[in-house]
Amino acid sequence: MRITFVGGGTMGGAMIRCLLRQKITAPGDIIVSDVSQSRRELLKRECGVKALANNGEAVESADLIILAVKPQDLAQVMEEIENPAPQQVVLSIVAGASLAALCRGLNHPCIIRAMPNMPAQIGEGMVVWVATAEVNPKQKEMAQSVLGALGEEIYVDDEKYLDMATALSGSGPAYVFLFIEALIDAGVHIGLPHNMAKKLVVQTIIGSTDTVQEMDKHPAELRSMVTSPGGTTSEALLQLERGGFRSLLLEAVAAAYSKAKHL
Ligand SMILES: NC(=O)c1ccc[n+]([C@@H]2O[C@H](COP(=O)([O-])OP(=O)(O)OC[C@H]3O[C@@H](n4cnc5c(N)ncnc54)[C@H](OP(=O)(O)O)[C@@H]3O)[C@@H](O)[C@H]2O)c1
Repeated sequence: MRITFVGGGTMGGAMIRCLLRQKITAPGDIIVSDVSQSRRELLKRECGVKALANNGEAVESADLIILAVKPQDLAQVMEEIENPAPQQVVLSIVAGASLAALCRGLNHPCIIRAMPNMPAQIGEGMVVWVATAEVNPKQKEMAQSVLGALGEEIYVDDEKYLDMATALSGSGPAYVFLFIEALIDAGVHIGLPHNMAKKLVVQTIIGSTDTVQEMDKHPAELRSMVTSPGGTTSEALLQLERGGFRSLLLEAVAAAYSKAKHL
């Protein structure tokens, strides 16, 4: 499978590293095209891939073309690589770029749109993706193996789920980082040394998410298992409910969804 990345920045670079680490493809089958010379040098040196400055030339021999540039650079990139060969499939991770806009801009029917999240940078991402009807099963398989290298992937057959995923898993790491930060602050507030508070919080979150995965119980049941009658946890949960923790999260995700729909 020959893959060309247009944009070898944070996400493009991370995807290349994930693909090579998991031996999904060899360095000789990857071309990266980027306007930045330092990015090209870095990826050439560290990953052994071919790096070019010309987008049109870079995509010529690719089976899969991955668009990993910022949204504001997409129009120019589409102009430079429009009318790909009929057997080529284009996969975009550009936030907010719809299948229709990509098909129109590239003058090509064979498009995949994926929404990865930030932990994809370390191979622990969540990717939700959708494809146009013209993408054939073999091309979908190819995309699945590439996106699977970033962590977990879910294929959906309706693009509306991409905006929902943007609000939940796309923005989600920011909610979780804020939660982690606030819990560490709380630990420090009651007298714990910062390093100790951080270790307690991070391991508590890792342990809790692993428990949700392994025990396969509803989170409410797990929460109840930690909440003894009249105990400390119950006291804390009362404060969270009073402060509107649950409804605040619902409203936050709904606001992100509304914004994603109007990007
Ligand atoms: N970062 C994330 O966690 C994340 C998560 C989900 C989705 N995404 C999506 O992924 C895309 C890339 O994000 P990123 O964080 O990887 O951005 P980034 O680090 O800025 O990488 C983009 C790269 O493309 C280069 N570039 C700009 N214009 C170009 C052109 N015309 N042709 C070729 N290369 C060009 C940039 O060079 P210069 O820096 O010199 O402009 C940069 O090296 C975005 O659309 C974003 O919505 C990112």
